Amino acid sequence: MHALKNKRILLGVTGGIAAYKSAILARRLIDAGATVRVVMSAGAQAFIQPLTFQALTGNPVHTDLLDPAAEAAMGHIELARWADCILIAPASANTLARLAHGFADDLLSTLCLASDAPLFVAPAMNRLMWQNPATVHNCEVLASRGVGFIGPGDGAQACGETGSGRLLEPEDIRDSLIARLQQTDAGDRATPDTRLLLNGQKLLITAGPTREAIDPVRFISNHSSGKMGFAIAEAAVAMGASVTLVAGPVNLQADPAIRRIDVVSADEMLSAVMDNVSGSTVFISVAAVSDYRLEQVMDQKIKKSQDQMQLSLVRNPDILKSVSTLEKRPFCVGFAAETENVEAHARAKLQHKQLDMIAANHVAQPGNPVFGSDTNALDVYWPADNGHESIPSGSKQQVAQALLLVLARQLAASDPSDTDASGKH
Ligand code: C5P
Repeated sequence: MHALKNKRILLGVTGGIAAYKSAILARRLIDAGATVRVVMSAGAQAFIQPLTFQALTGNPVHTDLLDPAAEAAMGHIELARWADCILIAPASANTLARLAHGFADDLLSTLCLASDAPLFVAPAMNRLMWQNPATVHNCEVLASRGVGFIGPGDGAQACGETGSGRLLEPEDIRDSLIARLQQTDAGDRATPDTRLLLNGQKLLITAGPTREAIDPVRFISNHSSGKMGFAIAEAAVAMGASVTLVAGPVNLQADPAIRRIDVVSADEMLSAVMDNVSGSTVFISVAAVSDYRLEQVMDQKIKKSQDQMQLSLVRNPDILKSVSTLEKRPFCVGFAAETENVEAHARAKLQHKQLDMIAANHVAQPGNPVFGSDTNALDVYWPADNGHESIPSGSKQQVAQALLLVLARQLAASDPSDTDASGKH
């Protein structure tokens, strides 16, 4: 796997016990084909020696802004120009604050100011430091400038507490970086103009099929692969949104920056959505939810005996409608997979489910199976002025980005008098 071949990555390491993981991260980036140069803050050097990184990367480690020897070899401006991307891992609360305020009193902060390469940060700190309004504000400022956040994750922390603020594992940071750089290279990822488009939005997205058990070994489901919903979640993160993805059983990895909740049945999906809808500004229901489930799931495997058998099914809850009919509801986007009269059926659903927008795809086009495919095309409808926009056929990543551009325009156009202070509709 050489997904980072020819990439020159400037790895910034700042203070914190998680700095030891950066040594493994440097190794993983090199394994993926990158050339890595390391810049360490003074705080980082209290936790790990520059020599470790020098030995791992085969390059001298940069620590000082005003070191005549280092400037003679590769000055800080050359170093800034050298980088295809800057990754700071771990990024301490102090580093985020200094970046947000444009400090240039040490080498790493100066490099960040002097470079126009994409900047990614993988924060690591105590959970209360991460939740502190000062840090939250600094992160919002950085995200609004297009800085990409990789994590943090949840879990046990070195301080003995448990919560959000943990550095993601080196492999997850590497994979997230690869995914985002690939999107940039393919032009699928947010451009500088779109990087801020969904900044501050909190998206809740469902994706994939649901599975309804018949007995301990069998189930009812459908062909949904989850690819469209995952592509939307990833494109939204790249546009600055924070994303919670409720995923049915699918065989896909999500960008670690996405908060992912795995579910199996429609009932579980409904519970996960309802537990997370409060605070969400947008709900995008991409999941192909099974319409029916067994009236009674058998405890034991059903034996074959008769030539025919009947299963008694009951309707599943409509998850999208459960959200769209909430008193305080997010902006609601539905999907409609239609085999005929696409516009009429999609508009009927838009009205019946009380949606703000619906994205319809024609699932019966020859050569366009949609389910499981890597490509898609959508027709998007919204109520005002019978609004409609066609998104031409493209990769699901391209279609996802185009859909979010339409969404961002509709969000901006939605009546502000209908919006409370938290941005909810
Ligand atoms: O009614 P229909 O299944 O065609 O509607 C499709 C839309 O409704 C999709 O956005 C789908 O995610 C959502 N849906 C749902 N819960 C259901 C059925 C559909 O959220 N039980």
